[in-house]
Amino acid sequence: MSEKVTLLDKTFVKYINREEVDEAITRLAKEIMLEYRYDDPILLITLNGAVFFAVDLIKQLDFPCRISCVKLSSYSGTESTGEIKNLIGLNEDISGKRILILEDIVDTGQTYVHLYNMLMKAGAKDVRMATMTMKPDAYKADLPVHYVGINIPNKFVVGRGLDYDGYGRNLPDIYQVITD
Ligand code: IMP
Repeated sequence: MSEKVTLLDKTFVKYINREEVDEAITRLAKEIMLEYRYDDPILLITLNGAVFFAVDLIKQLDFPCRISCVKLSSYSGTESTGEIKNLIGLNEDISGKRILILEDIVDTGQTYVHLYNMLMKAGAKDVRMATMTMKPDAYKADLPVHYVGINIPNKFVVGRGLDYDGYGRNLPDIYQVITD
């Protein structure tokens, strides 16, 4: 796989190797098993991007758990629109359940806060976040992010499910945008 990729009008350079991402996910799986083993949690996958991370993570969990999916949208190109839309909502009873949201990236935290409020209102017992990557310098929310795979700087990235206008999700490593 080459060190640079071009998607639409932007060029990206390889930034995090697949092995490093895999190791981070394995560490998260261990932490999650310790916390949730006896709790019958629901793992909530945010479509589309988190599917890749979720599959890599969930197949390492050795306790009974269920998954569900939601689809939200706040990004257009490389910028957050500041407005979150529920494109596909939750359609099951989550009252009294522990919910672990699975995200590919936590940026400003807006999506997390939106989901947190929605899930607590629907009666969840508790809601936590497990994210493959996080941009701590961009994070503006007060909620704790319990499980972070890799902290990254506040620059746009693609790969491992992360996209630029729909492209780049299939890259097995993480690439960072080259800004000029
Ligand atoms: P937040 O609501 O600002 O935390 O943004 C979360 C969502 O923004 C993620 O689920 C992604 O869809 C998108 N996002 C934020 N940063 C990036 C990035 O660097 N690459 C691709 N998508 C991103």
